Amino acid sequence: MSAQTAAKRISTADIAARKGGEPIVCLTAYDAPMASILDEQCDILLVGDSLGMVVHGLPSTVGVTMEMMILHGQAVMRGSARALVVVDMPFGSYEASPETAFTNATRLLKETGAQAVKLESGRYAADAIKFMVERGVPVMGHVGLRPQAINVYGAFKARGRTTAERAEILAEAEATAGAGAFAIVVEGVAEDLAREITERVRVPTIGIGASSCCDGQILVTPDMLGVFDWTPKFVKRYASLRASIKEAVDQYASEVRRRSFPEAAQVYRLGQPSRPVKPGA
Ligand code: KIV
Repeated sequence: MSAQTAAKRISTADIAARKGGEPIVCLTAYDAPMASILDEQCDILLVGDSLGMVVHGLPSTVGVTMEMMILHGQAVMRGSARALVVVDMPFGSYEASPETAFTNATRLLKETGAQAVKLESGRYAADAIKFMVERGVPVMGHVGLRPQAINVYGAFKARGRTTAERAEILAEAEATAGAGAFAIVVEGVAEDLAREITERVRVPTIGIGASSCCDGQILVTPDMLGVFDWTPKFVKRYASLRASIKEAVDQYASEVRRRSFPEAAQVYRLGQPSRPVKPGA
């Protein structure tokens, strides 16, 4: 990555300056071709640890490793040129101490070229966020439903339903912003709590299952493209890729079985000029 490429990308400062302004468009990305499609419209591409579930078929994000995040982060950086790329810190990589968090965050930034990291910021995380930001690592927080805490919650469900839980989430958001995060993902909370968080913190909130009150929105890309049979209530499907892919594969399989694929257009013949072969084209 050249300095020129880095300069062309949307920066964390650009995102922070969008508080209360034009809504921030974010999606998750895990590989280069998809990143290249999303790049034009997205302000932020998040290499989310949701990749453990939606790419690798794990039951939760708990099993995601630094190596997985680095590999996918590198791919997303190669496929994009404009969006701010943020890489999730996996479970276990930042909770133990600010020093551990800093060591792992700098490894993610150095090995991927991404500009920022995200971590799930319970109140305990404020020290780590402050430590990292003061030393040059931009951090995005994540409050409300924190998927890495699935083994504490017992299920993926909306949070902030009791007065105590509401107060705790508000305090987490304020501590995250106070520690220097440049933006905060707010996941799986009721509209009035999302509104209150957004009004109280001075940095942009990025909602997922948190209503349109937030300063921006993010979705898990395979969910919004309809790759899975089931999606949570808060996901709007903008395409039905599962059905389209299935239809294409059914047709391909039937043509192979009938020997009607390949057709003449796809066959090399001696003496005919051939086009250069682009893999996958
Ligand atoms: O891992 C992820 O994709 C996320 C988003 C759901 C915000 O954290």
